[in-house]
Amino acid sequence: MTSSMKLCFVTVGATASFHLLLQAILDESFLVALREHEYTHLLVQYGKDSQTLFEESLSKLPSGNCGIEINGFDFNHAGLDSEMRLAQANSSEGRSGGLIISHAGTGSILGALRLGVPLVVVPNSTLKDNHQEELARELQKQGYVVASKYQDLSTAVKRAEALPSRMLTWPPVNGIGQRRHRTLAQVVSDEMGFLD
Ligand SMILES: *[C@@H]1O[C@H](CO)[C@@H](O)[C@H](O)[C@H]1NC(C)=O
Ligand SMILES: *[C@@H]1O[C@H](CO)[C@@H](O)[C@H](O)[C@H]1NC(C)=O
Repeated sequence: MTSSMKLCFVTVGATASFHLLLQAILDESFLVALREHEYTHLLVQYGKDSQTLFEESLSKLPSGNCGIEINGFDFNHAGLDSEMRLAQANSSEGRSGGLIISHAGTGSILGALRLGVPLVVVPNSTLKDNHQEELARELQKQGYVVASKYQDLSTAVKRAEALPSRMLTWPPVNGIGQRRHRTLAQVVSDEMGFLD
């Protein structure tokens, strides 16, 4: 089978609603950016209270959704592994490697990194503790992820496409004597105080 599918999976998480992220990825300019990078599909986990917003945003798009097939769902009690895998390259299933865009939840960050799928994290800076932003910045510094504001997602797609593939696998492969970087697990536990 030829690689006919390239998917961007966006998760806003289970609890905190993140309406601006949802609107940003359902904006025409973002879809055009996806199309420019040969994406075919956008799959959105929009959260429990956001179905109406999801549908309203879809209805405002030009017909054909700029060439991107868009699907959404509210929440998956079984976790998001199967959805995240759709962004992983698999030639026998006809998929090119895609992209995951996530709120900065630890679970989705670790899930994406384990699959080796490029990840854009969009921290919600208004949350009380600002650990999300610290974590996103630290992971970006180490080359694991692209941190982005929801306003800059079109640029973030381009940056994520350029993430060197050697940086994408977790845990990192450290040569002898190359212990200058904290491991991802250390970063996450230092910044968040726990692993989920
Ligand atoms: C951040 O989270 C809060 C609380 O869930 C939400 O009210 C707010 O809209 C979010 N910020 C953005 C930028 O969406
Ligand atoms: C790719 O898809 C095939 C067929 O469904 C499956 O058996 C295989 O495990 C997949 N490869 C990866 C790396 O997930």
